[in-house]
Amino acid sequence: MIKISPSVLACDFSKLGEEVKKVEEAGADMLHLDVMDGSFVPNISFGPDVIKSIREQSKLCFDVHLMIDNPDRYIDTFVKAGADIITIHYESCENQREVLKMIREAEKKAAISIKPMTPAFVLDPLLPYLDMILVMTVEPGFGGQKFMEDTMEDVRMLRAMIKEAGYHIDIQVDGGINAETAAIAAEAGANVFVAGSAVFKAKDTKKAIADIRAAAEAAFTE
Ligand code: DX5
Ligand code: ZN
Repeated sequence: MIKISPSVLACDFSKLGEEVKKVEEAGADMLHLDVMDGSFVPNISFGPDVIKSIREQSKLCFDVHLMIDNPDRYIDTFVKAGADIITIHYESCENQREVLKMIREAEKKAAISIKPMTPAFVLDPLLPYLDMILVMTVEPGFGGQKFMEDTMEDVRMLRAMIKEAGYHIDIQVDGGINAETAAIAAEAGANVFVAGSAVFKAKDTKKAIADIRAAAEAAFTE
């Protein structure tokens, strides 16, 4: 099933509550929340208190993308803040399996992300612990970058690995996603699409989400 997850990183933070409401009413399936610590990535965004404050105003599935070192320290905090899906980075810790287990023990969906230079095969032993895999289609840290098409090799390989092992794992793509690149990623096997600029900077939010969804649905082949 195709899902669209607008990234609030591209919204007007002075009107955060209204911006979240806007994408919820425009047909978003999830809300992508990019947490950056200034160490794992060279940028700082927002933390659990901000997520908690918008949790009270939204029924959307909260898709929390943790770009932080040693995320095991904060799983409990983000669970309490209202996360529904928690994505950690493969490159951010040594104990990925334990952290994924912690997320599932808290009855949340567990996900892991790989940066563009990390090969997809490293995730093979972690498949039993995953509800979603995020393939970064830009170097993490900033919105508004250009989609890296060579990451589609990883999406293709992961879709094949998941199918062969018989799991139901979503594949999410994040970075430079618009209707055109969503079609490319869906064709490779992605089914969850994060879009920051393409949704929040669009004049017509509803149309922007609908266009990404339509392009992805037309191109997706299981
Ligand atoms: C980048 C973030 C993305 C970012 C996407 O590190 O993980 O979620 O907000 O923004 P766009 O869609 O503008 O590339
Ligand atoms: Zn993200």
